[in-house]
Amino acid sequence: MRYQFIFAALVSTALAYPSKRDNIWIEPSCEDRRSPCPMVNTLANHGFLPRNGLNISMSDLVTAFNDSVNLASSATQLVGAKALTTSSTSNTTFNLDDLDKHNIIEHDGSLSRADIFSGDNHSFNPAIWASVAAFFTEPTISIATSAAARKARLAAAAAVNPAFNLTADGAQFSFIESALYQSVFGDAVEGNAVTEWVNVMFREERLPYEEGWRRPSQELTIAGILGLVGKIAAASV
Ligand code: HEM
Repeated sequence: MRYQFIFAALVSTALAYPSKRDNIWIEPSCEDRRSPCPMVNTLANHGFLPRNGLNISMSDLVTAFNDSVNLASSATQLVGAKALTTSSTSNTTFNLDDLDKHNIIEHDGSLSRADIFSGDNHSFNPAIWASVAAFFTEPTISIATSAAARKARLAAAAAVNPAFNLTADGAQFSFIESALYQSVFGDAVEGNAVTEWVNVMFREERLPYEEGWRRPSQELTIAGILGLVGKIAAASV
């Protein structure tokens, strides 16, 4: 009985931490493709997605997001279907930098990227992220703080971009992105993402295992994510 308990404890620790050498974090080379999504890039840096960022299929996405962060297949498929339309050469796969294509998923007013008007809607922008992260003064990020940071970032982007245009779809994606970081690094219902973990993901495109984060034990569902979207939207008015 005692041995069974020890075995179960070892198995659950092994599942919580990427013991597979395949999933260690490796900085991308300059040939590797990356995207404007810090989480997609994170999964490529950990080898959950192809490290070269090339020829990614829906099944690659579903497996990667399930294995790494316990995102439900249906949730990955919803955004993955849009991602597959960004490739100009394939209907069944895309390269990570195809996601730069404007107004499919990529939109104006990102939390860590400049608008396409500036010429670079792809790269992590430390100054923009610093302006957003300045709202995150507590160890955890409440829904109200998420909403305030997002709202201020949209206003700042609009103020410097004469072509600023956040479509209805773009606005919805922007809410979903805040709900996603809250779900993965906080509670699926209440948010309160851990500030340090969110910072590591945005700044280093790394899963914050070393800082104590573990794959959520409950599956992250579309309903849960939309519940958080509703709360962030309600806190934004
Ligand atoms: C747990 C899953 C995911 C999380 C936590 C996540 C997180 C985020 C966050 C926080 C942003 C906003 C970045 C910013 O505003 O600077 C973002 C943007 C983006 N995400 Fe993801 N994402 C996830 C899944 C996906 C998937 C499955 C795809 C498609 C394959 C995707 C594609 C994108 C794209 C194209 C953007 C750029 C939007 C923009 O800011 O203009 N994401 N994501």
